[in-house]
Amino acid sequence: MDPMTNPFAPGAGTRPPALAGRDHVIAAAEIALKRVQAGRHAKSQMLLGLRGVGKTVLLNWIAELAEDAGYLTVVLEAPEGQRLADMLVPPLRSVLFRLSRVERARDVANRGLGVLRRFAGAFKVKYADWEVGVDGEPGRADSGRLESDLPDLLLTIGETAKAADRAVALFIDGVQYLTAEDLSALIVSMHKLEQRGLPVVLFGAGLPQLAALAGEAKSYAERLFEFPPIGPLDADAARKAVREPVREEGADIDEDALARVVEQTKGTRTSSKSGARTRGTARRAPRSPRRTWNAPRTRPCATSTRDFSACASTA
Ligand SMILES: Nc1ncnc2c1ncn2[C@@H]1O[C@H](COP(=O)(O)OP(=O)(O)O)[C@@H](O)[C@H]1O
Ligand SMILES: [Mg+2]
Repeated sequence: MDPMTNPFAPGAGTRPPALAGRDHVIAAAEIALKRVQAGRHAKSQMLLGLRGVGKTVLLNWIAELAEDAGYLTVVLEAPEGQRLADMLVPPLRSVLFRLSRVERARDVANRGLGVLRRFAGAFKVKYADWEVGVDGEPGRADSGRLESDLPDLLLTIGETAKAADRAVALFIDGVQYLTAEDLSALIVSMHKLEQRGLPVVLFGAGLPQLAALAGEAKSYAERLFEFPPIGPLDADAARKAVREPVREEGADIDEDALARVVEQTKGTRTSSKSGARTRGTARRAPRSPRRTWNAPRTRPCATSTRDFSACASTA
């Protein structure tokens, strides 16, 4: 097909032109999001799967659903070796600023900014851009012990969100890279938020061993979280993931080529050399009005390449 209109641009975390085969996970996430907004409890969800199955794009998809539903979202990717405190402070600060614009939550949010500032001080988070006048009262989230300070901080966020009649969703990709201390503090935080019925929900993604890591960190993690397994797409979903974007570009892919793509990818990737052939611009189908996005440009990856991240690394 015309390389200019080829809809496939494989790469780790690159949003696919069609998100196929994840309806049940998305439906469960939507229910959790609605429950929390309605003031009910919902278990946090940790999407578990091997590299390349599609956790990141699914997590980002759920984050967009949350935003569309009116959530304040915090989306983090946990790279190895970075502290959760460093990653959380800047986005939580902007959450508190946004909440402070809601009249009835202004005082709570301003106090929250003080708590955040003291937390940042206790953990030596380098973040220069503080407003004057939010020094904060000592004694909350500033002991220097993450396992008590992170819950205090996230409870503050939850209280502020509740005062503003809003909900907050945290998204953390690569949860297996968090240190045991960070993971433990995060689990304790979610536990306390649950006990207090505050409108904060967590969606994470990680490698399968994350379930065991969470259980080792806190034995009650298994009751606190759902661990939806994210596996390779089944054959139908894999066909859809390839055929739909091709058709949308006014091209078609023959059954043999489709069968080969599905067979070679084993449901974990699509290839930018999809075997699609253009039927001519005269037959272009009208573009559907659904969301479009600009995928980063990556070099096309050989059909024999097994994994999308390998394709990206040649770019
Ligand atoms: N449901 C899906 N349908 C079609 N393509 C998908 C789907 N899920 C993931 N992909 C594609 O697979 C590749 C790997 O996805 P990614 O989310 O990075 O995997 P992971 O985070 O599990 O390593 C990306 O290029 C993405 O566009
Ligand atoms: Mg990923």
